[in-house]
Amino acid sequence: MIDTPRHNSLYLPIECEIISVIDLTSGEKLFRVRRSDGVPLSHLPGQFVQVSLLGWGEAPISVASSPTREGFFELGVRRAGTLTGAMHTLKAGDTFGIRGPFGRPFDLPRLQGQDLLLISGGCGLAPMRSLIQYCEDRPAEFGMITILYGARNPADRLFKDELAAWERSARFACSFAVDSISGGDCFSGSVGLITALIPPLHCIPDRTVAVVVGPPAMYRAVIDELHKKGLSSDRIVVSLERQMRCGVGKCGHCTIEHLYCCQDGPVFWLNEIEHLRGAI
Ligand SMILES: Cc1cc2nc3c(=O)[nH]c(=O)nc-3n(C[C@H](O)[C@H](O)[C@H](O)COP(=O)(O)OP(=O)(O)OC[C@H]3O[C@@H](n4cnc5c(N)ncnc54)[C@H](O)[C@@H]3O)c2cc1C
Ligand code: FES
Repeated sequence: MIDTPRHNSLYLPIECEIISVIDLTSGEKLFRVRRSDGVPLSHLPGQFVQVSLLGWGEAPISVASSPTREGFFELGVRRAGTLTGAMHTLKAGDTFGIRGPFGRPFDLPRLQGQDLLLISGGCGLAPMRSLIQYCEDRPAEFGMITILYGARNPADRLFKDELAAWERSARFACSFAVDSISGGDCFSGSVGLITALIPPLHCIPDRTVAVVVGPPAMYRAVIDELHKKGLSSDRIVVSLERQMRCGVGKCGHCTIEHLYCCQDGPVFWLNEIEHLRGAI
């Protein structure tokens, strides 16, 4: 076992054991994991861990499960390169290291009592799922919850079973979009960009907070549509990705002007960053 109470450095990986691995798509897997020492991860929705594999390095990965689901945490990992490629070869019973949880989570106290508009694209559903599960488990804390999700095509959608369950649930209003479909695809949502799902929504701007997590190309168009619905920038939350190394505000790899994405973010209120060059 790597971690002991004597060794709780920010830089020292803690050993975790994989409980199960399932394929989400042909390029994404979901790892259900627990710390080998049995200590809960104690994260909040929106935070990430630095996953480390000996000989392969480290990569920041968002925690995809809610802290309300106890005894494990989950990581949805896209095979993107070196570390994530090596991770995709792991199976139940294997171990790897994590540092964290790190980063500023979704601002739950400011989300409580509000109607939520949860908008994610592609891999952005992984961190959003942590918040969705949290809302599912604490229904009294939030108003009406709308989930919008966009993906390239039906097969590329993450968490397909959960998307179907959220769609059936009276707790959520859901609309899904894909960029394109091909013959044989079974998909009942919209074909086109996720931005097209926003204009038909009924929302009360001074009672609604929108949370946006997705690929860089999605943010500007989605934010424009949210502004048109009357949502001001202090009612829009974004989670941003930057290249990261240390994850703890020391190396400067993740800066957005004076802000460190790893510590001041990855979650920001839009009014905190919209004036910063290159933030969105
Ligand atoms: C806060 C945060 C949360 C993240 N959460 C997830 C998650 O839940 N699931 C997931 O699959 N991925 C997530 N990522 C992205 C993930 O960290 C990168 O895909 C990963 O670092 C790639 O590591 P690698 O060693 O496999 O790839 P490498 O071999 O290092 O790189 C492969 C390619 O990915 C590019 N790349 C590396 N890091 C990033 C980055 N941060 N943003 C954009 N491009 C990058 C490299 O430039 C290179 O072109 C997150 C990133 C951040 C910053
Ligand atoms: S990753 Fe090192 S300062 Fe943010």
